[in-house]
Amino acid sequence: MNLGFLASHNGSNMQAVIDACRAGRLAASPVVVISNNVDSGALERARNERIPCFHLSGRTHPDPGDLDREIVDVLLEHDVNLVILAGYMKKVGPVTLATFPGHVLNIHPGLLPDFGGRGMYGRRVHEAVLAAGAGTTGATVHVVDAIYDNGPILAQTKVEVKKTDTADTLARRVLALEHELYVETIDRIIRGEIKLT
Ligand code: GAR
Repeated sequence: MNLGFLASHNGSNMQAVIDACRAGRLAASPVVVISNNVDSGALERARNERIPCFHLSGRTHPDPGDLDREIVDVLLEHDVNLVILAGYMKKVGPVTLATFPGHVLNIHPGLLPDFGGRGMYGRRVHEAVLAAGAGTTGATVHVVDAIYDNGPILAQTKVEVKKTDTADTLARRVLALEHELYVETIDRIIRGEIKLT
């Protein structure tokens, strides 16, 4: 299984998956990293790991169709068969989705279908969870389709929201769970326990 990553910021989820590959916990190879953010931690991590990496964004490709096609070209050139969104804050284009049907995964820092959709990402999810007074939150791994946070849910993990929690404490606790959940879910896919269409 060749993994291609799309990431916008720190890339800690991506690192967790790479570490699991390196440790032999995942029968997979991290083969390419693409980021829309030239200064992202994800690109730095990729360089440290000697994984080919590319900055592709509206700056390098002002036309969204061109950008989508370039992303696909890079993924195909590296023989990617599973696309891992790891804190990727852009919508995945139609050509990418058509080229890897059912094989683009995302991790979301909340319990979808709640607290998802357009504008609901990163810290905003935790702020919304606290504002709603939810007693439980968590993380979700799902298949990506054309609508934000909408595709089939593959796995979830839950955590209690404490009275003393802030968006920062919640983000930290959920992120640690995300790392484990993403690795475990990819492993279950590789083992055939979870079937992707
Ligand atoms: C993670 O919490 C991830 O779930 C979230 O951004 C963070 C990225 O952290 N993704 C989204 O909100 C996507 N809708 P990372 O860059 O350290 O992996």
